[in-house]
Amino acid sequence: MKKISVIGAGTMGNGIAHCFAQKEFEVALVDLSIENLNNAKTTISKNLDRMIKKEIINLQQKELIISRISFQTELNDFVKNSDLIIEAVTESKNVKIQIFKELDHLCKPETILASNTSSISINDIAKATNRQNNVIGMHFMNPVPIMKLIEVIKTNQTSENTINKIMQLSTFLEKKPVLVNDFPGFVANRILLPMINEAIQTLEDQVSGVSEIDTVMMLGMSHPMGPLQLADFIGLDVCLSILEVLHDGLKHDKYKPNRLLIEMVEDGELGVKSKQGFYNYENGIKNKIVNKRFT
Ligand SMILES: NC(=O)c1ccc[n+]([C@@H]2O[C@H](COP(=O)([O-])OP(=O)(O)OC[C@H]3O[C@@H](n4cnc5c(N)ncnc54)[C@H](O)[C@@H]3O)[C@@H](O)[C@H]2O)c1
Repeated sequence: MKKISVIGAGTMGNGIAHCFAQKEFEVALVDLSIENLNNAKTTISKNLDRMIKKEIINLQQKELIISRISFQTELNDFVKNSDLIIEAVTESKNVKIQIFKELDHLCKPETILASNTSSISINDIAKATNRQNNVIGMHFMNPVPIMKLIEVIKTNQTSENTINKIMQLSTFLEKKPVLVNDFPGFVANRILLPMINEAIQTLEDQVSGVSEIDTVMMLGMSHPMGPLQLADFIGLDVCLSILEVLHDGLKHDKYKPNRLLIEMVEDGELGVKSKQGFYNYENGIKNKIVNKRFT
C-alpha cells in the first residue's frame, strides 16, 4: 500500500493522516470544511514540534512528513486511486453510508474502505457498497499519534485478505491491532462509555465534584486520566452518539445517555474541541479549570 486517503480532518482524521505520513505513505486528507483542514494542518505541525522537542524527529523530517499530506476538499484522482481509504467523519450512520456509497462508486475495485467509527455497525456501512469483502473497521484511539491500539472490526463478509492486509498495516504503523467482531460499540466503547455515563450521573447526583470524581478514578483505579476529562477529549457529542448506538443496538437501559450529557451537547459544550466541557480549556489543555456550571 502506498496511497492512503483519510476522509474527515477533525480530532481523529488529522492524527491518522499524521501517522501514515510519518511512515512515508502519500496521504490525502479530505474535509468539507477549509477551516477544519487548516486546523488539522496546525495540529499536525504542533504535534510534530513536540516530537522534535523529544528528539524523535528533526526539523527536516517534520517538513517531509507535512509535505506528504495534501489537504483538500475534493474526492480527486488521488482519492480514486488510493489503496486504502479511512473514513473519520462525524459519528452519524447516514453521513457515513452516503460517503461509502460515493467512495464505492469512485474507487478502483481493490481499494479497501475502512471506517474509524466508534460504534456504528460496519456491516450496515458495508451493505451500502458492492465490495463488502473490502470493507472493515479500523478504530484508532485518541490521540492517534500516541495511542498504540487499533481495534480492527471484521464482518461476516470481510475477506481474509482484507483482514490480513489491515492487521499487517497496523503493525507497520507501530500500533497493536486487535481483531474483534461487529457488535455495537465493539469492545472499547461498550466497556468505556457506560463508565463515562456513570461518572456524569455521579456528578449530576452531586456525589462529588468534577475534579474529585476524576481524582478518585486516577488515584484509586490507576486510570491515567479521569472519565470526565476523557469525555472532554473524546468530545461530548461523540460520547452521546456512541451511547445512543449502544442503547439502540443492545436494548438495555444501562446504556441510556445521561440527561446532563444531552444538555451539555445541546448547549454546545463539547469538550476540548469547543474549549468548554466538564473543564474549561480557554487557557489551554494543561491549565484546565472546572467549567463554571459545576462550581
Ligand atoms: N474523538 C474521539 O476520541 C474518537 C476516537 C475514536 C474514534 N472516533 C470516531 O472517529 C470519527 C470522527 O470523530 P472526530 O472526533 O474526529 O470528529 P470531529 O467532529 O472532530 O471531526 C469530524 C470531521 O468530519 C468532517 N465531515 C463531516 N461530514 C463530512 C463529509 N461528508 N465529507 C468530509 N468531511 C466531513 C467535519 O467537517 C469534521 O472536520 C467518528 O466516527 C468518531 O466516532 C472518535
